[in-house]
This record gives sequence, C-alpha cells and structure tokens, in this order.
Amino acid sequence: VTSRITVAAEHSYDVHIGRGLTPIVRSHLAGEPRRLAIVHQPALEDRARVFGDELAADGHEVHFAEVPDGEAAKTVAVLEGLWQQLGAANFTRQDLVVGLGGGAVTDLAGFLAASWLRGVPVIQVPTTLLAMVDAAVGGKTGINTPQGKNLVGAFHSPRLVVCDLDYLDTLPPGDHVAGLAEVVKCGFIADPRILELVEADDGAGARDPRSSVVAELVTRAIAVKAQVVSADLREAGDREFLNYGHTLAHAIELVEDFRWRHGEAVAIGMGFAAELAHAAGQLDAPAVRRHRDVLAMLGLPTSYRQDVWSELLGAMSRDKKTRGSTLRFITLTRVGSPTRLVGPAPETLEAAYRRLDNQA
Ligand SMILES: NC(=O)c1ccc[n+]([C@@H]2O[C@H](COP(=O)([O-])OP(=O)(O)OC[C@H]3O[C@@H](n4cnc5c(N)ncnc54)[C@H](O)[C@@H]3O)[C@@H](O)[C@H]2O)c1
Repeated sequence: VTSRITVAAEHSYDVHIGRGLTPIVRSHLAGEPRRLAIVHQPALEDRARVFGDELAADGHEVHFAEVPDGEAAKTVAVLEGLWQQLGAANFTRQDLVVGLGGGAVTDLAGFLAASWLRGVPVIQVPTTLLAMVDAAVGGKTGINTPQGKNLVGAFHSPRLVVCDLDYLDTLPPGDHVAGLAEVVKCGFIADPRILELVEADDGAGARDPRSSVVAELVTRAIAVKAQVVSADLREAGDREFLNYGHTLAHAIELVEDFRWRHGEAVAIGMGFAAELAHAAGQLDAPAVRRHRDVLAMLGLPTSYRQDVWSELLGAMSRDKKTRGSTLRFITLTRVGSPTRLVGPAPETLEAAYRRLDNQA
C-alpha cells in the first residue's frame, strides 16, 4: 500500500510512502523530456544507476553526480563542483535536480536546486529513515561551513518526495534506530498512536525495516511534520515544536564533535525535556517514565556523561535557536501537547539533567 501526504508550502507537493515507487517519479516527469541531475551518495551508486536508467528510457537526459558520504558532502567545495556540472550540461529552469540519499544529500541537492538559476525544481528520494521522516520534508536545505552546521541554506520546497521503504533494507541498524528517535519525537509532540505502535511489541516491529509497523510509523511521522510545516513554513511559530529534545541534543553533538548520530542525541534531549517539564510542574511522572521506556525499547540512549554538564549548559546558551540570552525549551504538558518553557532556573536545569542518570 502506498500512502500520500500533501504538504502546503510555497507550492503544494506530495510525499509518497510505499515500496517500488520509481513509477511515481516517472509519471511525475511524464510529458516533456528534461535534463535530470541525480545527486547520490557512494552507497547508492548501483541503485542510482538503475533509477537513472529507467528515467533515461523515458527520454530524459540523465546526469549522475556522486558526492562524498555524510557531512563531507555538505561543503561549498562539493556544491561548486555540482554547479560546474550543471553549467557544463546547460541546465535550465525546465530541468531538475534529484536528491537520492540520506539527509546530507537531500540537504545538499535541495540547496543546489535552490541556488541554481535562483531556483530549479528538486525531487527528493530519501533513502534513510531520518531523511524520510525529517530532512526531505519541509523545504529546509543547506550546507555547513567551518563555523558550524547548516549555517548556509535556503527554504526551497521539493516538487515531490518519494519515500521508497525498499531503500531501508540496506541501512545500517544504527542509522535505522537513530531515525526512529525523530519518529518517536512526532509521537510525543503530536501523535500518541506512534508510541502505542512502538510499545505494542516492545519496539520489535519498529526496529524491523521490512515490517508493516515501520510503514505506518513513517507515514504518521511525515503526517505530523507535514501538518506543522504546512501551518508554519518559515519557523515563525509552531514549527519550533519539531525541535523537541533538540536543545540539549545540539549541545551533546557539539561535545561529541558531531561524531554522534543526531537521533541518539535527540533521544537524550527528549528525556531531559521531559524531566525538565516535570520539575517545572508541567508534566506528570508517568509521562516522563514513558519517554525512558519507549526510547530504551528501541535501543536509544537515555542518559549522558554527568561530568560535562557545565559544558552542555554553555553550548545550549549559545545555540542559534536560543533567543537572546534566555534558554527556551520545547516541553510537554501531556503526551501530544507541546508547549514552551522559557528561562528555567539553573538549579532546575541541572537537577533535571542529574535525574537522567539516577533512575532504574
Ligand atoms: N533539512 C532538514 O530539515 C533536516 C532535518 C534533519 C536532518 N537534516 C540533515 O540530515 C543529515 C543527516 O541525515 P542522515 O542521518 O540521513 O545522514 P546521511 O545522509 O549522512 O546518511 C547516513 C549514512 O547512511 C548511508 N546511506 C544512505 N542511504 C542508505 C541506504 N539506503 N542503505 C545503506 N546506507 C545508506 C549514507 O551513505 C551515510 O553513510 C544531516 O546533515 C542533517 O543536518 C536536515
């Protein structure tokens, strides 16, 4: 079964979730033949060829652009190489960029499309769980600079997103589990059914990329993101709720020098936000425990080094999403009801952090 979710942005676009979805891309491109640049990671080389050859058989002029793995792709040097490739192939506004890979590729391909001729269309074909439920949906694109992650970028919504779950078969289990952290996040902020699906078999279905549970989780998580993004494309209001768990997560990523998977850091950050909300009288104890239980059953971490608290606090205070000098957190009043906690006392913050380590 294929599901379809429509996102309202500067233009509306569909996100398809299912298996064997190349025909959806082919019919989207039916009509006029175009030039296509398929930007992909090394791990996707063979599948990029198969995909590209099918599109070439429809009459499109297909160009392949393999980029380095992971964050090494999100650099101005790689982007410059891609600009040269589009220039050499005479890419016009009728032509298209396709991002085939994890979030690093969908971010890069999206920004390539945003910047070429002030904007050409992009089709995103995310191949990691994280990219499906998060990076490829929502229109944020960008690259890193030596000063930090995602500092250069643009809002540039895709024309189409195709989440072909077949790609998940080869994803390393660690990446799968890290992606589940963002899925669970959507459960906590908006769709408790996601949590029930995970809890029903202690996370077994969620951890199995071939299960029907994963298909439903992906669809539900995308529905949450689509709804939030449609209401608030440019992050003026409730899009902030998607940052649940992210304030501490960014600080942990900094301490770990970005060698950690984002989802693992987000898992700890959500547990922390729950403890914080409890300490501030917003959230009851069973809901805090539910965070810990759901994350643990997926194999996600729920606590972190106690010796680096002051470093983490310093990093949180410098986070680009902090407004002024006041720390802000997305918290819950109950599962499915996000709110904000502004300027909690330093003792409250530290006590919440210490509690992460002090529970059976
Ligand atoms: N734009 C946004 O809104 C947004 C949101 C969240 C994250 N992001 C970005 O996404 C990136 C992280 O995404 P990610 O976790 O997908 O990382 P990634 O793109 O680095 O992919 C993780 C690893 O999986 C490999 N891989 C990809 N698909 C595979 C497959 N099907 N089988 C086997 N291996 C495969 C990749 O080669 C890579 O080694 C970060 O750069 C982050 O900033 C962006």
